[in-house]
Amino acid sequence: MPIDDKNFTKFLNRHEIDAAVQSIANRINDDYKNKEVILIGVLKGSVIFVADLARHLKIDFMVDFVRMANTGRDWSSRGTISIIKDIQYDIRDKHVLIVEQIVDSGRTLKFFYDRIKEAEPASVEVVCLLDKNQKRVVDTPIKYIGRPVSDQFLVGYGLDLEEKCRNLADIYYLKYPN
Ligand code: IMP
Ligand code: MG
Repeated sequence: MPIDDKNFTKFLNRHEIDAAVQSIANRINDDYKNKEVILIGVLKGSVIFVADLARHLKIDFMVDFVRMANTGRDWSSRGTISIIKDIQYDIRDKHVLIVEQIVDSGRTLKFFYDRIKEAEPASVEVVCLLDKNQKRVVDTPIKYIGRPVSDQFLVGYGLDLEEKCRNLADIYYLKYPN
């Protein structure tokens, strides 16, 4: 779908996104001085966010990724969540930051957060660029939030529309045709 399609409305431009990422990074830089940190990006949506966040961080950290799948028809439906690409690091006694691009019902995040907790890290906190808090069904504490967003479908900056549009530098609302 082309970027200038009438069904796209700009929500956040690249400068606003960068300001949100920088402000999260500033807080993490203050909170995690001299700690052993592992960032875990949730694939695939968070790749671009993780890359930008990483470049704003001044602390020492390692990066890993997890990928989950939901057997439901789409991400909004109830379904069984499973891990299809697990992390490689031993996180026991490490400070873990789970990095999500967007949290909607919270089911994906809750599933992974609980699993991380079982591995007994020194601490675990969640970083999320976009928080659809009105859609939350299961709660997990999110310490670092870029922006609260309303219940609309977003694309760009890692977020996909049927696997496309992740490359857009800005974030758009998708308006469904009437
Ligand atoms: P949750 O388990 O309902 O919180 O779903 C979270 C996942 O759904 C995210 O990691 C995204 O992959 C996807 N998702 C939720 N809202 C959007 C959206 O507005 N645009 C694109 N993907 C979304
Ligand atoms: Mg998706």
